[in-house]
Amino acid sequence: MVESAVSTSITAVCRACGGSLDCFMSLGSQPVAQISPERPTEQTQIRYELRPSICLHCGLFQLIETPLPYIMFTNTYPYFSSTSAKMTYHLQKLSESVASELDVAGDPFVVEVGSNDGTFLKLIAEHGLRHLGVEPAEGAANIARSMGVSVLVTFFDSSTALQIRQSHGQADVIVGANVLAHMPSIIDVAKGIADLLKDDGLFVFEAIYLPDLLRCNMFDQLYGEHVFTFSVSSVRKVFAKCALELIDVCHVDVQGGSMRYVLAHRGRKNVAESVSHFIDFESRFGLGRADTYHMFAERCHKIRNDLRFLLGDLRKRQYRVVGYGASAKSTTLFNWCELDSSIVEYVTDCTKEKQGHYIPGTSIPVRSPEFFAQDRPDYALLSAWNHRTEIEAKEQHFRRRGGKWIVYVPEVATA
Ligand code: TMP
Ligand code: ZN
Repeated sequence: MVESAVSTSITAVCRACGGSLDCFMSLGSQPVAQISPERPTEQTQIRYELRPSICLHCGLFQLIETPLPYIMFTNTYPYFSSTSAKMTYHLQKLSESVASELDVAGDPFVVEVGSNDGTFLKLIAEHGLRHLGVEPAEGAANIARSMGVSVLVTFFDSSTALQIRQSHGQADVIVGANVLAHMPSIIDVAKGIADLLKDDGLFVFEAIYLPDLLRCNMFDQLYGEHVFTFSVSSVRKVFAKCALELIDVCHVDVQGGSMRYVLAHRGRKNVAESVSHFIDFESRFGLGRADTYHMFAERCHKIRNDLRFLLGDLRKRQYRVVGYGASAKSTTLFNWCELDSSIVEYVTDCTKEKQGHYIPGTSIPVRSPEFFAQDRPDYALLSAWNHRTEIEAKEQHFRRRGGKWIVYVPEVATA
């Protein structure tokens, strides 16, 4: 792996096992995802080629090149789990189920890797449980702290794990919600988890599920932060390198389709049938076949063409189109499909920290939902399609006044 002076990490081989990679498509030159300020910064200067690939040895789906984590997860990183009611509810449920498994009398210790704004750990803290969040984005960490959550502002790796072990002792449970996929040095992270976890402890993490991404053509889930998209079979192999055993899995309905993985030290717990059930499913699905990925690439190219055709046609007919949701996904969407503000006038987003900024690599500004409500555009391209139910419920007035949604996953359609 090469960490270049230009702030990206490029690999020629699998980041987990060193196997050969089949790079089956390119989504072009991309800027760092999320949002950009008006004035150029070090972050806005960086470009990387977005090339997903599959390891022919361990099956780990990964990006060949990604901006280095310190470039992406800055103090002003603008993603907050609590922005979505659905995600908040989901993380609260996860935290209740973790808390209910722990015996307060035994002084258990819970660690969350990538604790963001404390949506998960807040409840653990309220239960009076000893806990620690590890979060590099100071803005998000400060929100968590204001709610009584303890946070260490740093990246999680094997040396952070050692530091926590020395200062707090080993953990009964380590949790990572949508964060393991963000960590290019995955083996070092896995080593840290194994070191920090008590002998009979549990490591629970959630991530976008590869078969969902492939089946629904979610090309926009590919961006620098998502250096990996996991499957049950790849997780089992990758973490086995650090003697962590996959003991249970459960499909969860967030982020367009995710998997919850439960791991323990090898041989310490029984392995549930769910693991072999999903491994069989993945084999039937074709995760081990090259054509599965090449066909995904073809379907994504068709979406790109269909969307560009539809938007070009709407513009010719003088309809006004805006976007809805300045998610990191929208950076991939707008840059790969080469859409600028002459096609999509602005993107609306309820995150205050994003409003007044721009979709990276484009001239498309981010505006508030209040602006959108008064502006009355004809069409809204739903770039936050994973929050569709929540957004459609909030924006009923848009449809009532004749506005139409444009979706592009799993295919281009208006509604
Ligand atoms: P995400 O897909 O990474 O969660 O990002 C979704 C974006 O959409 C995030 O910037 C917040 C925004 N959003 C709204 O503007 N309104 C909403 O109702 C929801 C749920 C999200
Ligand atoms: Zn591999």
